[in-house]
Amino acid sequence: MSSEPISRPRPRSAWPGRLTGLAFGGDYNPEQWPEQLWPEDIALMRQAGVTMATLGVFSWACLETSEGVYDFGWFDRAVELLHAAGIALCLATPTASPPPWFSHQYPESLPVTAEGVTLGLGSREAFCPSSPAYRAAALRITGELAARYGSHPGLTLWHVNNEYGAHVQACYCEVSAEAFRVWLRRRYAGLGALNDAWGTAFWSQRYQEWEHITPPRASPMPVNPAQQLDWKRFSAEQHLECFRAERDLLRSVTPEVPITTNFMTTACPNIDYWRWADEVDVVSNDHYLTGEQQDNQIGLAMSADLTRSLARGRPWMLMEHSTGAVNWQPRNIAKLPGEMRRNSLSHVARGSDSVMFFQWRASRSGAEKFHSAMLPHGGTQTRKWHEVAELGTDIAALSALQGSTVNADVAIVWDWESAWALELEYRPSVDVRFLEQMSSYYGAFWRSGVTVDFVSPDADLSPYKLVVLPTLYLASAQTGQNLTSYVEGGGHLLVSFFSGIVDEHDAVHPGGYPGALRNVLGLWVDEFHPLAHAEGIVLDDGSEASVWSEAVLPEGAEVIRRFATGPDAGEPALTRHRLGQGLAWYVATKPDPDSLRALLSTVAEAAGVAQSGSPDRVEIVRRWAVDASYVFVINHEARPTTVPFGGTDLLTGQEHVGSTTVAPGEVVVLRQPV
Ligand code: GLA
Repeated sequence: MSSEPISRPRPRSAWPGRLTGLAFGGDYNPEQWPEQLWPEDIALMRQAGVTMATLGVFSWACLETSEGVYDFGWFDRAVELLHAAGIALCLATPTASPPPWFSHQYPESLPVTAEGVTLGLGSREAFCPSSPAYRAAALRITGELAARYGSHPGLTLWHVNNEYGAHVQACYCEVSAEAFRVWLRRRYAGLGALNDAWGTAFWSQRYQEWEHITPPRASPMPVNPAQQLDWKRFSAEQHLECFRAERDLLRSVTPEVPITTNFMTTACPNIDYWRWADEVDVVSNDHYLTGEQQDNQIGLAMSADLTRSLARGRPWMLMEHSTGAVNWQPRNIAKLPGEMRRNSLSHVARGSDSVMFFQWRASRSGAEKFHSAMLPHGGTQTRKWHEVAELGTDIAALSALQGSTVNADVAIVWDWESAWALELEYRPSVDVRFLEQMSSYYGAFWRSGVTVDFVSPDADLSPYKLVVLPTLYLASAQTGQNLTSYVEGGGHLLVSFFSGIVDEHDAVHPGGYPGALRNVLGLWVDEFHPLAHAEGIVLDDGSEASVWSEAVLPEGAEVIRRFATGPDAGEPALTRHRLGQGLAWYVATKPDPDSLRALLSTVAEAAGVAQSGSPDRVEIVRRWAVDASYVFVINHEARPTTVPFGGTDLLTGQEHVGSTTVAPGEVVVLRQPV
């Protein structure tokens, strides 16, 4: 099998040179409005402190009215108005939504579902990423934009497409099927190697001809899991090929203009963003709160920290979030006064050098008209408008932060391939969910005031005092070796149940569980004992747990806690293995939130990781510059909080000596010289 290493060239360090301070603004869709209104838009943008606008994300049908026939006049005028007002241009290629004329002319470019349904028009993102007709048309309009605006003095950033893979993760059409076979031929040395890797001796699946291999279409029983994993890899790669083609064309015309595409780091499970992160000049992210979720600021922080980690610690851009409610959740909860400000500043605290929104002016028509915007339907008399303008002032006051970074002592391993494999059919328990596992561990650290990075399983772990694997079901032997070297060298590792079980083809590692992690953890697992729905168990220190129990047999690890109840009562539940200079902990169940927090606190203390003693819902994060650090204290509590340090609050100019009291719902950004 030919391996496909993630290419890791040194990323281009390309913060848009035309931006000073932090960027503030959003998507601007002037084509939805009469042109007489545009000057008012621009005047209000200036009033709100907007410094950058994203233009053209869904403008293809208005820019290319039939094949090769362009109408750039209106776009020229919008560009000039923005530029004359000193607003930087983030120009999007409009390739996320092909126009109706295109889909009619090239019906084979429409995406097909696993059930064989061809998706229709009248929405957006109706394209097959493998379609030659789509790819050619996307490059043509991209080339036109590059030629026309490439030398424009306002052009600051290229924004390619929009949220690749968010809505059409994979296309199951015949063109895609053939592209899949080509991809497989490159990946495997021959059909024999593919048959071995996929384990096709099972269920009479052995292939004699490449042409017999299909996408994992709707089928009577679960499709071969190795085939499904390769299909997910292939499909994500098809989107990446589309991105690369547009990016390379833009680079060839404007090598000095940085290029991004907006990720959805915690919300698009289909894309392995570790493979994408070094392909962009600037990492950017879209994040939307889950309105009905309690303490949804924690999910926001996780998305921001994951984005910073993809940017390898360098500043990144928040490309989209919302001023208030979205329109696509079952109940679209509006943000309370102050919430948009706390959300925005949490992203900045965690390394974003921009605060951008979808969108500038709320649409009158179309599916998103009830989505909040910077300028609501009610105009400048609304509460939202005043909050937006105040936020613009805040963002301007934070310009010194540009380029500063965030440090973390703890890393959580995040791996999309393992998530894909974990969530295929026929696992020991449907209650083991990737995002839930990540969120519970991340949330416990958040509540203890510990800033974390995320890393891929094969990353250099040496910068961290503690590395945590909330669940890494799929782990290669190489990952096992990486974790072993980390611990031997003095690192502290915490691994949770159902980790290390299978290789990259979803084949169980020889010798049983936990396969690739057996040596580093100093134990093996005789049998899994998943619990019934809502069944709870207790450990011998009284901590409570659910979802999972298993029979752990130490092979060098010492037993710290035992199960007090459940199928493994009396047997190990928490172990600790000394290896070389380091420690490897293993927890064989899913502790409830309080028990998990206590466990992580013990493990963090042993690793020498500092934990803030601040109340539960007070978020404290520090950004570092050369001459100063900036401490964000975001008070999500309904009562004031006092932190035991001072500094100059950049948002108010107020000097705090020795301690700082932060009012309910308020934020301070304290400058402390270093
Ligand atoms: C995504 C898209 C935007 C808009 C928002 C709505 O992030 O990029 O165009 O549809 O969702 O929340």
